[in-house]
Amino acid sequence: MDKKIIIAIDGFSSCGKSTFAKQIAKKLNYLFIDSGAMYRAVTLAFKQHGIIQDGKIDSSRYKQTLQEIEVGFSLNKSKGVYEITLDGTVVENEIRKPEIANCVSIVAAIAEVRERMVDLQRKLGEQKGIVMDGRDIGTVVFPNAELKIFMTADPKIRAERRLKELVEKGINITMEEVLENIRERDHLDQTREVSPLRKAEDAVILDNSHMTVDEQMEWVENLVNSRIH
Ligand code: CDP
Repeated sequence: MDKKIIIAIDGFSSCGKSTFAKQIAKKLNYLFIDSGAMYRAVTLAFKQHGIIQDGKIDSSRYKQTLQEIEVGFSLNKSKGVYEITLDGTVVENEIRKPEIANCVSIVAAIAEVRERMVDLQRKLGEQKGIVMDGRDIGTVVFPNAELKIFMTADPKIRAERRLKELVEKGINITMEEVLENIRERDHLDQTREVSPLRKAEDAVILDNSHMTVDEQMEWVENLVNSRIH
């Protein structure tokens, strides 16, 4: 019988990690968890509580709020996916807005925020049979994951993909704004002190700049098979 494994997918922003992770999870009948959504939900909470003003965090108040909020996932039965919740309310749409994307990397750089989210992520992975995407999944959250993939793509191609996604959601934004946000987040994510974005030594690199979603799946099939048998 196939064994259940943990698949960790890390990489730069807007590489299509979540789309890829979701597809692998569907194929294997695994749980898919978007760890970025969790940092976005904390960012939303901090905004709602007035803890982020002019792109700066109120360091005297965030700890209290972090303790009081509840980030989780709830199953959307009709879509067959888990959606992010903040204090029990699904916030999947709110967290994708540019005003959240613009602040999420400063929130994700806070050690206490990461500690809480990593605890939750590890709990979700206890039973294995999980695909999780993020920035530190293969390095910090699941250093023993059986399969680690590090995704990258040309920044311009990433910006085009993200722009298309946002426009489809009816969000008004320019290509320059998207590219600027991607560059800034990549920089913050790679240079922060706590759990910076980096490739785990045993991760396999996937540059999907010129790959279709189907080609990606073909690429990963042998890798997955070699780890589950
Ligand atoms: O979808 P996209 O790649 O643009 O970003 P995301 O996966 O939604 O993550 C949003 C932000 O959360 C990232 O830019 C990181 O700053 C942070 N993040 C993190 O620090 N650690 C993770 N495991 C996942 C996301």
